[in-house]
Amino acid sequence: MPPHSLYTLTRFFTQTFWLPPAPTTHPNSEVPAYIPADLSSKTYLITGGYAGLGLAVVYQLYSHHATVWIAGRSASKAADAIEKLQREHPDSKGRLWFLEVDFSDLASIKPAVTEFKRRNATLSGQGSGEGGDLHWLNLNHGIMTPEQSAKGAQGHDMTLATNIYGPFLFAKLLRPVLRETARRSKPGEVRVSWAGSVATYLSAPVGGVGWVNVESDGKDRRRDLVGHDHVGVAYMTSKAANYYLACEFGRRFGVEDGVLHNSYNPGNLRTSLQRNTASHNGQLGYWLIWNIICRHGPLHGAYTELYAGFSPELELANDQGAWIVPWGQKDVMRPDIAGEVEKGEDGVGGKLWDWCEDITRDFQ
Ligand SMILES: NC(=O)c1ccc[n+]([C@@H]2O[C@H](COP(=O)([O-])OP(=O)(O)OC[C@H]3O[C@@H](n4cnc5c(N)ncnc54)[C@H](OP(=O)(O)O)[C@@H]3O)[C@@H](O)[C@H]2O)c1
Repeated sequence: MPPHSLYTLTRFFTQTFWLPPAPTTHPNSEVPAYIPADLSSKTYLITGGYAGLGLAVVYQLYSHHATVWIAGRSASKAADAIEKLQREHPDSKGRLWFLEVDFSDLASIKPAVTEFKRRNATLSGQGSGEGGDLHWLNLNHGIMTPEQSAKGAQGHDMTLATNIYGPFLFAKLLRPVLRETARRSKPGEVRVSWAGSVATYLSAPVGGVGWVNVESDGKDRRRDLVGHDHVGVAYMTSKAANYYLACEFGRRFGVEDGVLHNSYNPGNLRTSLQRNTASHNGQLGYWLIWNIICRHGPLHGAYTELYAGFSPELELANDQGAWIVPWGQKDVMRPDIAGEVEKGEDGVGGKLWDWCEDITRDFQ
């Protein structure tokens, strides 16, 4: 059982079954009223933006004339999504661009950031500084329960590599662009959001993220994050880590940079994320998850993400590390995880930061 089981159970039910209605919308649009109708001067980068929740977010932003970068590993999936978005929104004044990056390969991150800065600076025009504008970095991509043996390019567990190490490095390298954009923007307008999950509550270790010794060669005891040997636990650990990283970026740089960092549980939505559920949970488990737990389509998840990216209820000084839950409201985190955040550098988040620094050092 996860720590604080009663708390976890009530959060699971209130964020899965007893949900508020979808947010108020513009008369002719599906997006919440706090999204400005004209986003033509804004630039957003949505990782995993050609599928699932990311695509639903891009759909809304592009329909409101934004420039949107879709970051992912498949050029052909991106081309299909872009073609569809352009067909469905022929009147959009926005622009859609693909940025190739594989978050499970640390070697692909810095070249992608360099490429983004080069092309985005040209697109943003003069006066927008090196790297151009970036108003919202939405670290939405993620994988859940791949093959147990699956590894990232550097040999790390696939889930931990894709959901934690890659996005940590990506966010870190994009920090100067975000900081510069914030100087030209209203306070709290420039944001970074991390995809958490209801799994953040369910994550097994006390504190959400922990380390284990994995082997000893007689000289050096190697360690790894809890979850490296179990795909289900790796997913929960990665989602708790995403929350911690939002809090850590926010605590270390948020106010100084003028950038608001937060994290969200988008809700339980029907997407391709559950593609491996049957092989890990059996057909009955898959049926239950697909039909009982995931009862909404991607648009509802997009509402949660858009709240994280746009809601005026989130303020630069007061909401660093805010935890957002369906379909766009603030909540408090599981007490043991929240307690670790309170400890700052000495808590789990501080240790996770150092861990990510170590793992990504050669690729910065
Ligand atoms: N759906 C839910 O019920 C739910 C619940 C809680 C949290 N979430 C979180 O919400 C986020 C979005 O999930 P979703 O439901 O939209 O899932 P999805 O439909 O499977 O989309 C995930 C996206 O991430 C991309 N991605 C995966 N591995 C990648 C890699 N190595 N490099 C670059 N991109 C990669 C995928 O690209 P490819 O197609 O190329 O693999 C895809 O575009 C995830 O972080 C997930 O953990 C979802």
